[in-house]
Amino acid sequence: MEPPMHGKANWRGPLRLFHISDIHFGLEDPAALAFAKHCIDVERPHAVALTGDLTMRARTHEFKAACQWISDLDVPVTVDVGNHDIPYFNLYERFFDPYKRFKAVAAVIEAQLDLPDLAIVPLRTTTRAQYQRFPWSNGWVTDHALRHTLAAIDALPEGTRVLVTCHHPLPERRERDGKLLTINGTKTMEALASRKVMAVLSGHIHDPFDLVEQTAAGPLRMIGAGTLSKRIRSTPPSFNSIVIDGPDIHVTARNLEHVPTRAMQLDEVPENALPPREPGEPVSPVGTVPLVDPPVY
Ligand SMILES: [Fe+2]
Ligand SMILES: [Fe+2]
Repeated sequence: MEPPMHGKANWRGPLRLFHISDIHFGLEDPAALAFAKHCIDVERPHAVALTGDLTMRARTHEFKAACQWISDLDVPVTVDVGNHDIPYFNLYERFFDPYKRFKAVAAVIEAQLDLPDLAIVPLRTTTRAQYQRFPWSNGWVTDHALRHTLAAIDALPEGTRVLVTCHHPLPERRERDGKLLTINGTKTMEALASRKVMAVLSGHIHDPFDLVEQTAAGPLRMIGAGTLSKRIRSTPPSFNSIVIDGPDIHVTARNLEHVPTRAMQLDEVPENALPPREPGEPVSPVGTVPLVDPPVY
């Protein structure tokens, strides 16, 4: 059976979405968070998509602060789980109840948002453990997670535009040396491209990007958001303001430093959020690389 086609013209005007990521309570940037909150309060986007890493180490007090910040947002919200949101020290919880600490915002975790002619569909890329490697901070789209997301997309009414949200960018291999990034990323991107998904929104990298990945089933747009924490990689803290106008998507990387969007965006997806130290590692044009690696605790 042919997969359903999404993207038919039947739209009621532009939709505005704020794509926020990696707020990392525990090492949050209060000024950047206040800026994002102010923009949400004043501009009232149709929705906020938070693509994971709400905390630094999934500690109870970090979750409490993150959940409070999310609860105070007076617009529809969907939240993906990041690798930093799974208990690190408490192994019992990590394996048996990894999402317990999200309780206060459980209703918005991996929740599909249905806006006029547009659906925001989550895809889980985090896992409790990975037998292929250690540490387990990079992404893995399990067959179960992929099936779940594809079933949600296939159940949408014909003509619905689709955005997919997840924490990890989906490229499976690093361009520079072929290093394994997100396990099953290639087949996931191909499946999403075959369903004409408009874009995949992700976090984890702490620098924004807006790239097109070529798959066997056609192109797939990959949009990454920066961080609102002090763990910066090569750009000042930022979030994405996304306008969906018919079949078009316009992305602005909003930041307090007034850096233009193109100077904020990477042209290649790196492995993680660590500041670039080696020659050849992707750096944003603005190049705000911290001299010392930000703390991880
Ligand atoms: Fe992060
Ligand atoms: Fe992450």
